[in-house]
Amino acid sequence: MRKIIIAGNWKMNTTLTEAQTLASELKGLISSEGSTEVILCPPFISLHAVNEIIKDSGIKLGAQTMANKESGAYTGEISAAMLAATGCSHVILGHSERREYYGETNALINQKIKLAFAHNLTPIVCVGETLEQREQNVTFAIIEQQLRESLHDLSAELAAHSIVIAYEPVWAIGTGKVATPEQAQEVHAFIRKILTSLYGASFSENTSVQYGGSVKPDNIAELISKPDIDGALVGGASLQANSFATLIATAKPVAAN
Ligand code: PGA
Repeated sequence: MRKIIIAGNWKMNTTLTEAQTLASELKGLISSEGSTEVILCPPFISLHAVNEIIKDSGIKLGAQTMANKESGAYTGEISAAMLAATGCSHVILGHSERREYYGETNALINQKIKLAFAHNLTPIVCVGETLEQREQNVTFAIIEQQLRESLHDLSAELAAHSIVIAYEPVWAIGTGKVATPEQAQEVHAFIRKILTSLYGASFSENTSVQYGGSVKPDNIAELISKPDIDGALVGGASLQANSFATLIATAKPVAAN
């Protein structure tokens, strides 16, 4: 049975004090009893403080990116070891904003995934097509290439570690244009097919594939009701405690599909 995972990607929002307030409010609102896994991904500078607040609550901590090097003279970078020592269990890798604004390639993301595993971090690997690519009918080709190259040569690591995939159509991120549940399901089913061809049916069936892009409290239930959608990576709607808590509470299938 795959887990439903809801992750809040705070991006470059919240000062230290704001992050502490948001984490405290969420801790008070989110029930730890549900089977849904909740991950908060604040900016690096707030990871430690947020961890202090959530560490005994069942809510997990994730980072938004990390370096592709183990340690050393890489000014400004943050390593997998640092994240693990700060309480992170997860790290988002290959978010489309990292790909678009910081030139991250599938090969670089593959290096980062290996380093994340080496430090017992679970990577949340993002894939997704741009509007132009969707209009050119190359969505599946792009997703397949992103998956094959980013997840290249991980057999040894995957025997001991798990991974989360996030399908985020770039045209739906921060735009209010959510993919229809049918559009999302179509790509999620395709992702599962590629995961099967890469590492076998059991790996594919046990790997959670999140949807991301303008997920809100009022569209999560329908998305989650689709058979291959196992949660969400949430940007804007994760910055308000009440609305994020409602979104999490609503993240249950409305009907079997
Ligand atoms: P959004 O961002 O929910 O604000 O569209 C999602 C993401 O980029 O992970």
